[in-house]
Amino acid sequence: MKKVFKKIKTVKGELSFAGDKSISHRAVFFASMAEGKSVIRNISSSEDVKSTQKVFSELGVEFFHDNSDLIIQGKGRNKFKAPVKNLDCGNSGTTARLISGLLVAQKFSSVLIGDNSLSKRPMKRVIEPLSLMGGKIESVNSVLPLQIFPSESLRAIEYSLPVASAQVKSAVLIAGLHLNDETKVIEKFITRDHTERMLGLPVNTIENFKIVSSSEKYFPTAKEYFIPGDISSAAFFIVLTLITENSELIIKDVSLNPTRTGFIEVLKKMNADIKIENVRESSNEPFGDLIVRSSHLTNIRIDPSIIPNIIDEIPVLSIAGIFAEGNFEIRNCEELRYKESDRINAICENFRLTGLDVEEFPDGFRISGEIKKAKVNFNSFNDHRIAMAFSILAMMVGNESSVDEIECVGISNPTFYEQIDSLIK
Ligand code: S3P
Repeated sequence: MKKVFKKIKTVKGELSFAGDKSISHRAVFFASMAEGKSVIRNISSSEDVKSTQKVFSELGVEFFHDNSDLIIQGKGRNKFKAPVKNLDCGNSGTTARLISGLLVAQKFSSVLIGDNSLSKRPMKRVIEPLSLMGGKIESVNSVLPLQIFPSESLRAIEYSLPVASAQVKSAVLIAGLHLNDETKVIEKFITRDHTERMLGLPVNTIENFKIVSSSEKYFPTAKEYFIPGDISSAAFFIVLTLITENSELIIKDVSLNPTRTGFIEVLKKMNADIKIENVRESSNEPFGDLIVRSSHLTNIRIDPSIIPNIIDEIPVLSIAGIFAEGNFEIRNCEELRYKESDRINAICENFRLTGLDVEEFPDGFRISGEIKKAKVNFNSFNDHRIAMAFSILAMMVGNESSVDEIECVGISNPTFYEQIDSLIK
């Protein structure tokens, strides 16, 4: 479906978001692995987290809804049921990569599949370390489908991540939860640490820190989880408010995990008026409220070490960048080419449609010049974050500008357009 936009005048209001997608995935994983009943409050409403639930249902885990809570009857160690169907991860890279770490440690075979986009995404990054651990994974060209066989002997390894990836880190740590010996993961750049926080593993605060997992100390037990609001979903509304005149937005109970708030730091350096209030913690995860007001932004140099922290926000950060003084340039983010779409290309293609000057590099892009077209029809590339970022731009351009195939926003935030409508005055 194509969505057509009028020019936005002001943004005013208050929003709260369903639970963070990354944290929700992990809560479903660890509640499913633990023996007995866990409760998840404010779980993500995303299609991606539903994919994780579907995979665990196929492994024999039972899910119930009690008002807005999700109740999970977890199986306990080595008690998953052998799946009778292929395990469909849909569009979700987190599901596919994290579940690989769990499945190599099971006594049954399984097959992982996904949609067209996921079936093109690189899986070598998990196949390699899990094979070093003795896991048995077969695939053609290191993409889905993955066939996973029971391992004769899984062993702990010490692994330095060759790519800054929380999904790969988590896959190895999850496999390590099934071993008595300590599995160690070393990451050069700090990536999101929800797996560590939820399991009580040591949390990385310096580069080249060793993160450890093992069965006896860290195998999850049943518990109650509260998932703070999704900061990556909030990012679109933060940018919309900053670049619209006379606007103010309050965002309640949103995740403020320091491995996820890098884009707020970048925006603040760009002169954004964003205030953080009422900071609290639940299940080791900080959260709080944000007050965002219209701001006169200026582009800055974006440091390479912050890229893993802002990776999902780069599409919407680039929209802020074109309304900021100076030119927007971002480098060292080649990883963006391996997301739900080739996001560097998707962003550049869409900016080219506006008449802006675009330089595309293997690891980033640079945008300069002016928007010259009065009306632009953007492509979503069937990628939720591209659809949402360019919906914001279409609202700024107005004149019936549009975005095609907007259904994909449900991958992370099915209520995106209702939330937009509630704010526009
Ligand atoms: C995620 C990690 C990131 C991120 C993705 C979710 C996670 O991917 O882009 O949207 O939940 O662990 P990588 O770890 O592959 O960079």
